Amino acid sequence: MSSKPFDVIVIGGGPGGYIAAIRAAQLGFNTACIDEWKNEKGGPAPGGTCTNVGCIPSKALLQSSEHFEHAGHHFADHGIGVSDLKIDVAKMVGRKDAVVKQNNDGILYLFKKNKVSFFHGRGSFAAAKDGGYEIKVAGAAEETLFAKQVILATGSNPRQLPGAEFDEELILSNDGALRIPNVPKKLGVVGSGVIGLEMGSVWRRLGADVTILEALPAFLGAADESVAKEAAKVFKKQGLDIQLGVKISSVEKAKGGVTVKYTDAKGGEQTLACDRLIVSIGRVANTIGLNAEAVGLKLDERGAIVVDAECKTNLPGVWAVGDVVRGPMLAHKAEEEGVAVAERIAGQHGHVNFNTIPWVIYTSPEIAWVGQTEQQLKAEGRAYKAGQFPFLANGRARALGDTTGFVKMIADAKTDEILGVHIIGPYASELISEAVVAMEFKASSEDIARICHAHPSLSEATKEAALAVDKRTLNF
Ligand code: FAD
Ligand code: NAI
Repeated sequence: MSSKPFDVIVIGGGPGGYIAAIRAAQLGFNTACIDEWKNEKGGPAPGGTCTNVGCIPSKALLQSSEHFEHAGHHFADHGIGVSDLKIDVAKMVGRKDAVVKQNNDGILYLFKKNKVSFFHGRGSFAAAKDGGYEIKVAGAAEETLFAKQVILATGSNPRQLPGAEFDEELILSNDGALRIPNVPKKLGVVGSGVIGLEMGSVWRRLGADVTILEALPAFLGAADESVAKEAAKVFKKQGLDIQLGVKISSVEKAKGGVTVKYTDAKGGEQTLACDRLIVSIGRVANTIGLNAEAVGLKLDERGAIVVDAECKTNLPGVWAVGDVVRGPMLAHKAEEEGVAVAERIAGQHGHVNFNTIPWVIYTSPEIAWVGQTEQQLKAEGRAYKAGQFPFLANGRARALGDTTGFVKMIADAKTDEILGVHIIGPYASELISEAVVAMEFKASSEDIARICHAHPSLSEATKEAALAVDKRTLNF
């Protein structure tokens, strides 16, 4: 069978892969994208973890559960009475599935629009040949493709807790956590990282009693300490029981539930009995089925594909992006790498600035940051000044009825260049963009302080945080 020639073949159709394929096609390359994700009918469902069991469905459920919480607890403040409030979990999950499908279909449309050839199936290396690679597609259609440039974007899988295999009924990965059929009375979560907090929040808002068991002694270690402290306080008040410094000794399934035995931070033996257990202890790079050995693709000791700063692997013409390589496992990081690689293949200077990749946790309050934390700067010994402004003093936040949290800005002590911005509060996910743009343009805190911000808006808190760096807030 002769192989179909392409200029660029992308394996994986998540945010790293589908965006790389679109950019490569825009740059004039004859491009193929292979993705194996199936919807419940066995049809194609491009978009990867992000679209199918990650970013998009989790945000859909966060939105639904937030509406429920507002209706139950906050509408009354606005004079709106709601009686007989109920949650129809099947409908909520169905809506989430519809949102996922809109995104799957959107990507298939984008492939057509940009003339990317899509293959639904598993892509694997067949052979290195004629200065390029034969890639076998196994799935709906059996094909062999050929290209001199191959982009690997095969993503990641959830990490299993030893002795607690995912069955997606009682012991849930992110996949099962997004389709629990009814509100559990008692929900256990292992890991107080991003998934644990987001999914824990969803089911807590709907009425579950949620306990999160975290191995590390400190909460949200990657965030600025002041944000982590505020978050811990607010989550506790909301009813999330977060236990730190925990060591899990066993996880046992019984009829209709899970029993977790663990040692708490003080060394005491504890037992958590729950209806279901979400395990969210990080993710591992996925190269299953790629047949990487056939061509000698180099992986590191954790199974991630080894790449240089430009996403080049050890094989000529083979690149890798997104969760399957080093760096933060974030959809927007994967997308930026995908674009940069397509541009490098075209001889351009694709660039990803790792210092300005924003982080967002979509809890309520939202948490978002970019750049360095105070503790990182202290460890580096870099002189800095910091300014903070609470949403309590922001008119728009008061009108919204959500005054939790603050914006904190950190700038270099001498040059005033912004080194980090840390936000906990309403719409932090949107507010962080201003900080990203400012840092990308190497703005000083004074630049932000002197820019006219709309009134009343939450973004005024960012301006006031910038003023606070110079100890001259106007509204606090
Ligand atoms: P993936 O999205 O995992 O895509 C890889 C694709 O490749 C998959 O479709 C897979 O089926 C396919 N594939 C793998 N091997 C093969 C093969 N051999 N042949 C064919 N196809 C193959 N990030 C954010 O930035 N914001 C968020 O809000 C966010 N929320 C998240 C919530 C959850 C619950 C989870 C689990 C993750 C979340 N993430 C979020 C992380 C984000 O989903 C990932 O960083 C992102 O999906 C990585 O993109 P990727 O393209 O590298 O890989
Ligand atoms: P995570 O890395 O965010 O958190 C995992 C947590 O589990 C850590 O706090 C870790 O200390 C803890 N842990 C590890 N082993 C443990 C054990 N044996 N017992 C108890 N605790 C243990 O990973 P998570 O939440 O699984 O998410 C995976 C990735 O998905 C994240 O790295 C993130 O990049 C991405 N994601 C991003 C989101 C966003 O951007 N809003 C939302 C959800 C996921």
